[in-house]
Amino acid sequence: MKLTMTPQQFLSEYWQKKPLLIRQAFPDFDDFLTSNELAGLACEEAAQSRLVLKQRGQWKLEAGPFAESRFAKLPKKDWTLLVQGINHFVPEAVNLLQQFNFIPSARLDDLMVSYAPDGGGVGPHFDSYDVFLLQGQGKRLWRISDQTDSALVKDAPLKILQNFQTQQEWLLETGDMLYLPPQYAHWGIAVGDCMTYSIGFRAPSAQELATEFLGYLQERTHLQGLYADPDLQLQTHPAQISVQMVGKVAAMLQAITWQNQDVASFLGQYLTEPKPHIFFASPQRLSFDKFCGRLAHDGVCLALTSQMLFYGDKVFINGECVQAELVAQPLLQQLADARFLSPIKTPSDDLARLLYQWHQSGYVLFR
Ligand code: SIN
Ligand code: CO
Repeated sequence: MKLTMTPQQFLSEYWQKKPLLIRQAFPDFDDFLTSNELAGLACEEAAQSRLVLKQRGQWKLEAGPFAESRFAKLPKKDWTLLVQGINHFVPEAVNLLQQFNFIPSARLDDLMVSYAPDGGGVGPHFDSYDVFLLQGQGKRLWRISDQTDSALVKDAPLKILQNFQTQQEWLLETGDMLYLPPQYAHWGIAVGDCMTYSIGFRAPSAQELATEFLGYLQERTHLQGLYADPDLQLQTHPAQISVQMVGKVAAMLQAITWQNQDVASFLGQYLTEPKPHIFFASPQRLSFDKFCGRLAHDGVCLALTSQMLFYGDKVFINGECVQAELVAQPLLQQLADARFLSPIKTPSDDLARLLYQWHQSGYVLFR
């Protein structure tokens, strides 16, 4: 990728602050998917796909998976097919995402690819995501606006801004890329057949983090003792909850505390938790010795659907947490960063057993 500035400059001047158009960010960009292959993925149960059509001024939304025959009946213009999580199916998509590793992978969501014939798009809208919109085949006209008016078209099946006011517009060609911070209004319209690659970075809401963290904490909270009131006073109203009782319970609940370590463990598990439609295919059973032979010869890589992060000596993979021994840590961190490990001739026993277990779960594969 040609960023036209250092990643450091990008972070300090643009990331989460303002849009950036980068002409020819990927000078020789070659689509690694055809529109037919994208349609094929949209027929799969494991892919999350949508068709958005505009017919006689009305927006229509259909959710996948689709029957193949659906694609034969589409109009010539004004529709788009969008497929999420392309990186779970296509190795080249993971390579593309790796080019964005100047942003931590804890912020990464997925790669969405859309195909649209002339006029197609999802209308003017906001996203709660940071997104890099990379133009593949064809051209797309992008209109953007820093408007705060978020009124939506009534009764539309998707969120479309009612009063979109174009402030800037650009025609993106293959290899051009537009970065948009969250909540920045945008509208992409296909100019002829067009494929767009959306590299999305998630920004979880405070409420989502709180709800998930409280759930995590609930499973790990084990308070001792019973409510006790040896100092109980006579009450005029037996039905009244006394001020003393509220005070005692408030004091008991103050025993619920957490440290940054707990927040880190929660984040690692939450952020690597596979989405509900993701499954891992277990490979054919293999003895530990044979596994070590292949590890020494081929090395391993993360399965396309695996997500791995680390914090200190804690390693998180697909919602699970392991505390790695010191000697294994650099290699595990390398696996998390680069998604692969070159052949390892003499792994520590701990590392070999861990990788073996992950291989049996379908989390890592041989390269
Ligand atoms: C697209 O149509 O590919 C772009 C989706 C978006 O605007 O987020
Ligand atoms: Co968008």
